[in-house]
Amino acid sequence: MTALLPSRTGARVERLPLARFTTLGVGGEAEVWFVETHAQLAEAMEVPYRILGGGSNLVVADEGVPERVVRLSGPFAERDLSPDPLLSTPEQLVTGWVGGGVPLPGLIRTLQKLGLSNLEGTVGIPAQVGGAVWMNAGTRYGEMFDGLHTLEIVTPQGARQVTPDDLGWGYRQSGIPRGHIVTRVRLKLRPSTPEAVLEKMSAADQARKGQPKMKTPGCAFKNPGGVSAGRLIDEAGLKGTRIGQAMIAPEHANFIVNLGGASAADVHGLLALIRERVGVPLELEYELWPGEAEGHGA
Ligand code: FAD
Ligand code: EPU
Repeated sequence: MTALLPSRTGARVERLPLARFTTLGVGGEAEVWFVETHAQLAEAMEVPYRILGGGSNLVVADEGVPERVVRLSGPFAERDLSPDPLLSTPEQLVTGWVGGGVPLPGLIRTLQKLGLSNLEGTVGIPAQVGGAVWMNAGTRYGEMFDGLHTLEIVTPQGARQVTPDDLGWGYRQSGIPRGHIVTRVRLKLRPSTPEAVLEKMSAADQARKGQPKMKTPGCAFKNPGGVSAGRLIDEAGLKGTRIGQAMIAPEHANFIVNLGGASAADVHGLLALIRERVGVPLELEYELWPGEAEGHGA
């Protein structure tokens, strides 16, 4: 039974198991705020909160988290891809606002059909736009910041608009502090053809063929100095290693998969084991909620 909790701005608030919102399928309960307006978002941010995107990079504790969990909904999950007449040129189309809660895979497929290029390298990333921007998710074929024109960021102090030049972004980082919410963005895209975009997309799609199909939050560690962390973990002989119901994927050693009923503790155990066995310091890519367990420091 989930109980509806009160909000004075009319946000839908429910205690829900976060396992339902994560691609790993792990995580206990929290108070989830489904916000559709800036007023609802401001209310949600009055006390400690976290922002949940597509849950595709999260390992949430079995106990859940004590903070409010904000989920962008309604207009924050809608997109306006029509060209902004004031900002667009024949060489560069700048869209209307695309909500942070918009699922990235559907957006990328639509842009391909429209023959709009710049973001096709992110095909196959099961994120929401806001989460993908916050991480600057990508592949060697391209990343989110290739296609960003303007970002709206909301903090408890209010909303502001920034451009990529205002941020210190790079490989798997946007420079946006944790907890600053990317509510919507304008995309900058290069007019091309559906066929040409599809061709570029196929290369990125192809690189994914060797990735596991099970429940997972994707790659556990960032690639140190451009070397594949997966290769390093593989060379340490760890593919297929299990703790409880979590396993280092036999297909790609940087993925941890849930065999069914895994706990967050199982995943933490594998992360610690990898760090112990791989001779190179590895920076975590997964976000651990509420934080890393003692003894598993980054
Ligand atoms: P979540 O997992 O929900 O959250 C991750 C972090 O982003 C949290 O700190 C959260 O608070 C923050 N966040 C979420 N939404 C917002 C917002 N609106 N504003 C501010 N902060 C926010 N990643 C890659 O980079 N490249 C890949 O090729 C790739 N492949 C993947 C394949 C699979 C099968 C899976 C499961 C994952 C893969 N990932 C990949 C990892 C993941 O998709 C990315 O890290 C993505 O950016 C996470 O976005 P999300 O919306 O799911 O965020
Ligand atoms: N390799 C191994 N063993 C493994 C895994 C990889 O030997 O277990 C080797 C491969 O054979 C290849 C090289 O390492 O020669 C690179 O592998 P891959 O092409 O899979 O790329 P990656 O660097 O391991 C990165 C991203 C992925 C992204 C792919 C495809 C990171 C941490 N990972 O993986 O992103 O999908 O490229 O572009 O940057 C993610 O971030 O969550 C993620 C899945």
